[in-house]
Amino acid sequence: MTKPRILVARAIFPEVIERLKQHFDVEPNLTDELLSKAQLTEKLRDKVGVFTTGGERIDAELLAACPSLKICANMAVGYNNFDVPAMTAAGVLGTNAPDVLTETTADFGFALLMATARRISESEHFLRAGKWTRWSYDMFAGSDIHGSTLGIIGMGRIGQGIAKRGALGFGMKVLYHNRSRLDSITEAECKARYVSKEELLKTADHVVLVVPYSAASHHTIGAAELALMKPTATLINIARGGIVDDAALAKALREKRIAAAGLDVFEGEPKVHPNLLTVPNVVLTPHIASATLPTRLAMANLAADNLIGFLVNGKPLTPLNPEVLA
Ligand code: GLV
Repeated sequence: MTKPRILVARAIFPEVIERLKQHFDVEPNLTDELLSKAQLTEKLRDKVGVFTTGGERIDAELLAACPSLKICANMAVGYNNFDVPAMTAAGVLGTNAPDVLTETTADFGFALLMATARRISESEHFLRAGKWTRWSYDMFAGSDIHGSTLGIIGMGRIGQGIAKRGALGFGMKVLYHNRSRLDSITEAECKARYVSKEELLKTADHVVLVVPYSAASHHTIGAAELALMKPTATLINIARGGIVDDAALAKALREKRIAAAGLDVFEGEPKVHPNLLTVPNVVLTPHIASATLPTRLAMANLAADNLIGFLVNGKPLTPLNPEVLA
């Protein structure tokens, strides 16, 4: 019997490819280059499934050109690379990779917050450049984490993980803003208080962004929002590029209208706004919040389980548009 044909759009763990090969005729991407839209479309014309990693755009035009496609399995919790309504209209299932990365990503959000508030990157560059010749009382003085006010915008699983780290580990007062308010049990577990976005921006010492990207969340933080923040505040973005207006942020950082920022995601990444590269008070990392090997393996296995679950058993684990299963 011929096996269903699938594409794995980027290089992934060899053991996950081997698992997939037990069920499918797998075309891997041996070059590991991000496929152009034309290349992706061409490769998907004869496939029933695709393993994506978050960078591959699946839209109505591609779906119309690839009528045999039945499932797109993203190895990422975010899925703004998928046009889900277009997929549903075409009867194509989308799946993402939630839960398995929550704690790792919350760890990273906290690490980026610590590095930003305590100026770890900036001071390390200073040391490596041979500029450390003497002690001074205010050298790289940063802002405290413990006992300060943490404001979280986007209180899903990862936001809740960051809230718990802040409240339980560092005695922080936690404020949050979210599309919908959490139930009182979850609020109590996170020791978090729901406030308006404006109140959060005005009162938090550290603002962490963990909202999914959509047209509605585009530039959640722009010049007007940055102007509301305290001049001593830090801003952390581990959500998606486009949630922050990077040009406006670079300007605010240069003018010291806020103290510092930590960014793991960027508008138009892997390009980074040139003005961010030249301001000292920003910590920049290349979209690595979920990057530990055990977590990346769990994400890859979950995407593979979705392909196997759906194409072999008719039961995907984490469907985004379960209505296509009906
Ligand atoms: C990473 O950004 C993810 O969405 O998993």
